[in-house]
Amino acid sequence: MLDRPVLGLESSCDETAAAVLAPDGAILAELVLSQLDEHARFGGVVPEIAARAHLAHLPGLARRAMAEAGLGFADLGGVAATSGPGLIGGLIVGASLGKGIALAHGLPFVAVNHLEAHALTARLPGLVEGGVEFPYLLLLLSGGHCQCVAVEGVGRYRRLGTTLDDAVGEAFDKSAKLLGLPWPGGPALERLAESGDPARFRLPAPMVGRPGCDFSFSGLKTAVAQHVAREAGEDGTMAERTRADLAAAFQAAVATALADRAANALAMLPAARGVVVAGGVAANGAVRRALAAVAERGGARLVAPPVRLCTDNAVMVAWAGIERLRLGLAGPPDEALGHAPRP
Ligand code: KG4
Ligand code: ZN
Repeated sequence: MLDRPVLGLESSCDETAAAVLAPDGAILAELVLSQLDEHARFGGVVPEIAARAHLAHLPGLARRAMAEAGLGFADLGGVAATSGPGLIGGLIVGASLGKGIALAHGLPFVAVNHLEAHALTARLPGLVEGGVEFPYLLLLLSGGHCQCVAVEGVGRYRRLGTTLDDAVGEAFDKSAKLLGLPWPGGPALERLAESGDPARFRLPAPMVGRPGCDFSFSGLKTAVAQHVAREAGEDGTMAERTRADLAAAFQAAVATALADRAANALAMLPAARGVVVAGGVAANGAVRRALAAVAERGGARLVAPPVRLCTDNAVMVAWAGIERLRLGLAGPPDEALGHAPRP
């Protein structure tokens, strides 16, 4: 029986995060430090910089989260840290810190799989009215991952489809760069698309009509590049109107492709009552609307956690830890880094 709070640590990419959750899932403290500014001038996440930033900030952040929760480490019922997949430097920082705290205070340590943490977030009590029951369909749409997963229970996942090339967030970022937008391009592209006409340029909605629910986005990015090359003036710049129209066409093509894939995935999991979206791209309004329509047609509802819990955070890690500790699925303390259960 888990009757004490759990500390969660996330450091697999470019967010340094710590959170403390009560055993019933109530959030007692929630802190995220984004490293965006440190990576922006390189146009993407630099693993070495990320690892050093996690090393510099995670211990202090963990201590602050505990102070905000009004607890000492000895009051905890367990420590959970993302242990894979992700950038190895950051994973070592988070898992080592988590294990250190657990060892020093005789607590169980849970090596959390990052994808499992995204997958279980929607089950956080109070997040979704009526809760989310197994099985459900998870669409993980981030900069590093793009998957359809059947979530059948804690630790019971079936990957139904994945990307054959780029992740959808990567496609947003690369196309945004072609349109002259700063990294990370997803939010900026969405803003630019607001004033654009999605019908002016015809862009292919990749994989639409094909069986299964795999994704592919590299062809779409190439199509954007070709239009940019055609439309750009001699100085390489494009009219504002043209940039907005291309952004709108790109976003519409992505939404159409995701909706088509999600519909096929839902047909592969007829018992699914819910479609859960996670990952940074789940913040996109056009994507959410397209997926909500698919869910409704399939007799399911779309569950979209608040954006701060869709992107990388430690609340989801602590919650995955709680789900595992409750079921006795924590694993031995040496299990970490690559041995975390893989969905
Ligand atoms: O989940 P996330 O924060 O980090 C990982 O990749 O793990 O996702 C970041 C990705 C980036 O590619 C970013 O451009 C994209 O999510 N993104 C968006 C939006 N907000 C973030 N893409 C489209 N529209 C958005 N509003
Ligand atoms: Zn993530």
